Amino acid sequence: MSVAPRWVEAINKALSHPDNKGKVIYQVATVDARNVPHVRSQVHRAFMHPEGRPDLPLLVTSTDARSPKVAQVRANQRVELAWWMEGSQDQFRLSGFVRIFPSASAPGDSSSTPIPAGAVAFKTLEEQGFDWDAKRVEVYNSMSPGMRASWCSPHPPGSALASTDEQRSWPSKVPSEPESEEDRKNAETAQNNFALMLFEPIEVDWAALGVLPNRRTVFTRDGDKWNEQTVVP
Ligand SMILES: Cc1cc2nc3c(=O)[nH]c(=O)nc-3n(C[C@H](O)[C@H](O)[C@H](O)COP(=O)(O)O)c2cc1C
Repeated sequence: MSVAPRWVEAINKALSHPDNKGKVIYQVATVDARNVPHVRSQVHRAFMHPEGRPDLPLLVTSTDARSPKVAQVRANQRVELAWWMEGSQDQFRLSGFVRIFPSASAPGDSSSTPIPAGAVAFKTLEEQGFDWDAKRVEVYNSMSPGMRASWCSPHPPGSALASTDEQRSWPSKVPSEPESEEDRKNAETAQNNFALMLFEPIEVDWAALGVLPNRRTVFTRDGDKWNEQTVVP
């Protein structure tokens, strides 16, 4: 019987700390095709793992399929994220592989990114016949009407904004139960632009600054086994 690595328990424990309420934002760093780094905040949606394999955890987040980070991930699937939980004074740095799962009707490249060599969790899910599009729709359906509207902009995130007047005409809510033909069209646009972003960590660096002396532990995955090393903070 496989068990979740200790770092997952540490993150879940930190998240349940009363002073860490809402600390579900991490910063995700990518490197583009020209080797230039980029970093941005993203919302942690959930952990998941292949059936019967809690030792192979993945982090679920999401994005707009048209956003620059997607092209960066297509060029290089190695990413690192940093997660600071101020209430408990824990920093988690997770390094690993990312995959993007856009809609089949996404604008531009609608293919999902490949399984990187060594990405055992992604490979196991593939072997188990995991339905990524069903997961994408499930996560989309959990979003608020306001969030859904953010995937309706007629122009890609990061492109020049012609006028704020035009921006004001864009939908501000996409209700889950469409009340008009316009709602229905907007829901289709939002769903088409909505992409799942999955992160498979292979190294986790946990700096616990809420204890004295401070403790820092590095977890490294070797195949499907997690090793643990205490290091100098
Ligand atoms: C608190 C916060 C949470 C965010 N969450 C997400 C998210 O989950 N997914 C996302 O694509 N962008 C999210 N963003 C926006 C990104 O940080 C970024 O500005 C945008 O996605 C464009 O990034 P890119 O140009 O690197 O693709 C968030 C921003 C903030 C401030």
